[in-house]
Parts: sequence; C-alpha cells; structure tokens
Amino acid sequence: MAWELESRLAQISRAGLQRRRRTLSSAQGPRIRVDGREYLSFCSNDYLGLAAHPALTEAACQAARVAGVGAGASHLVLGHHELHEQLEQRFAALTNFPRALLFSTGYMANLGVITALLSRHDAIFADRLNHASLNDAALLSRADLQRFRHADAAHLDELLGRSSAQRKLVVTDGVFSMDGDMAPLTDMLAVCERHDALLFVDDAHGFGVLGEGGRGILQHFGLKSDRLIYLATLGKAMGSFGALVAGSESLIEYLLQKAHTYIYTTALPPMLAQASLTAFELMADDRLRQHLQQLIRQLRNDLEGLPWQLMSSVTPIQPLLVGDAVAAVELADALRESGIMVPAIRPPTVPTGSARLRISLSAAHTADDVAALAQALAHLARGR
Ligand SMILES: Cc1ncc(COP(=O)(O)O)c(C=O)c1O
Repeated sequence: MAWELESRLAQISRAGLQRRRRTLSSAQGPRIRVDGREYLSFCSNDYLGLAAHPALTEAACQAARVAGVGAGASHLVLGHHELHEQLEQRFAALTNFPRALLFSTGYMANLGVITALLSRHDAIFADRLNHASLNDAALLSRADLQRFRHADAAHLDELLGRSSAQRKLVVTDGVFSMDGDMAPLTDMLAVCERHDALLFVDDAHGFGVLGEGGRGILQHFGLKSDRLIYLATLGKAMGSFGALVAGSESLIEYLLQKAHTYIYTTALPPMLAQASLTAFELMADDRLRQHLQQLIRQLRNDLEGLPWQLMSSVTPIQPLLVGDAVAAVELADALRESGIMVPAIRPPTVPTGSARLRISLSAAHTADDVAALAQALAHLARGR
C-alpha cells in the first residue's frame, strides 16, 4: 500500500513524537478535571484567567438570548452583526489604529492577511521560530520565503538588502509561542523603514499580557507607524475566540475585499464578540498583570538549581528546556502522576534537541500553585 500509514505512525511513535489528546471535563483554569481526576494545570494560554470568568459567561449568554448562537452567514452576506462591528471599533481604538477586521481564528487571520497581500513576485521575511500559521500562510501566498535567524534584526537587514522584490513583508510573532521571548520590534521597524518593507506582528501571546492596560507589544515598545500591521488573537489572554487585525484604513478595506479566510467563511458567533468586548473591559485592570509578573518572578526564583534550565522569558510562557523528546515526555508524565499537568513540546513544533516543558502561568494561579510545581520538579530532580 503506497500510503503506509501504519508504518509512518509507528515511526512517529518510535521517535517519541506521537501526539495524544486528553479530554477535559471541566472549564479551563488552574484546576481542571481530566479523565476523572483533578489536576493543577500549567497548560493553557488563558493568561488572565478569563476563559471561565463569570462576566464572560454571562456576556455570552445574554448576547445569545438576543442574537442567537450562530451568525448564520458570512460577514459579506449579512452575517456581520453590530457586536462584530463594535468589537472591531473597540479594538482599533485600544490599539491606536485607524481600523480593524475580525477573523474567526488567528490561524485564518494569518492565512488571510498574507495571501491577500502577497503573490508570486513578492517576498516575505520570517523569523525562524514563527508560528506554523505564519509559515503556512507564506507558502500558500507563493511569495519568495526567506527566514532570518531568530530575533536577529541584523540578519533581517542583510536579507532585505539583498532582495530585489517590489513588495516586502516582514512577519514575526510578537511573543514567541514556544519560547516566551519577544521580537526586537524597535530594531526591526527601523530595518523595515530602511528597506521600505511592511512589518506584520502576530501578537497572539502579547495582547492582554504586555503594555499598559494589556494593549499589547506595540504599546510595550511604544511603537506607532503606518508600516505596522497588528494581529491579536482572542482565544488566549482574552479567554474568548477569534482574532483581530488592525492597520490603516486602506489595508483593512483591502483585506475585506480580498482575504479569502475572511470572505468565504461563516462569521464568528456574535455572542463571542460580546464575550470579547467584556474581556477588553476586564483586561484593563493592571493588577492582573502585576500578579502575573509576581508569579513569573517566583517561578524563576523557585526553579533555580534544577537540572533543567528555564529559558530566558519575561512573559507567562516559561519553557523548561529538557532537550531530548522522550525525556521531556517522561518528565511531563511524572508530573502528571503527581497531579500536575504541564505540556511537553517536541519537534516539529520546536527544533530537534530542544524539547521542553511549556509552563504557562495565568493570573488565576496562586503563589501556592507555583510553589507546588516547583516542589514537584525538585522532587523529580532528586529521584533522577
Ligand atoms: C503566534 C500564534 N499565532 C496564531 C495562532 C493561532 O491562533 P488561533 O488559535 O486563534 O487560531 C497561535 C496559536 O494558536 C499562535 O501561537
């Protein structure tokens, strides 16, 4: 059989790269129920603890009573609800851009923006550690894809200098999803200006977490430019679902006309737009981020001296580098036995030899939760 799926699956399994789902039977949060057992969890991207917040649940329920559940049509065929419209306007105001567009997911937004803007004779410059959706989008656009060394503005400068493409788009995660570090956006924007390139920042993990009021990585670095295209997802710190892209009036109008993943799909349920509007209100409270920063400091302090190194990160994504994929899975399994869930992240999601536990913190965690994780890891380190 030409497909040889069994043998390909066996190969994945032998390499320690088999992925498995576990089924949650509780809401998302620091304490979850999985397969009939309760766990302390460090697995979600729910950085502000909003995914199961009563105000979001109530907002969604109330909106469903008025607007129903399904949008029933695509945005351009009368699926565009006033709650979608409000969400776009609120986001544009929050992030200080002229206009914004709501997509159903971050993955779709990345595909939509990049394939709408670029085609065969254009060039795209991407950080080597960018999220898979940005890489897929680049391939789908058929533009010339060049990858610069991670967070290396000088290498980007070099590649842009060698390019003769007419249109150049630089794309980067704001906060890197598996590493937790930040792109050097101030330097990158200066490089883009020098080479007349646009800079597309995917701030899936920074919006709600960075900057005053949680307004994201551009606010964090104090950046404003008409070269910038900004994306935030709503399924992470916002505890909701969907994604917003902000930019100039003409950029957004162009995406509305051209982005296939915006045009040819059912609009997001309006009740989720209402939940996101409520999340925007809750995220303004800077005490959430102060608490998160306190937890991050505590974790970094408590995990010193372990045989595994925490990677350099000031965000709630705190990866513990293990190296070998099988060893990372064994460590995650041992933690799970002790009642703590932390995901092991392996290739191809991260480069070979850099498998890790991706510890993610939430404002809903307590200092005791972090202490429990540190104790469990110290215990496992002693038993090695
Ligand atoms: C950097 C980054 N961009 C985009 C996405 C996709 O967003 P969504 O989950 O809304 O599809 C993710 C993760 O899911 C991500 O980590």
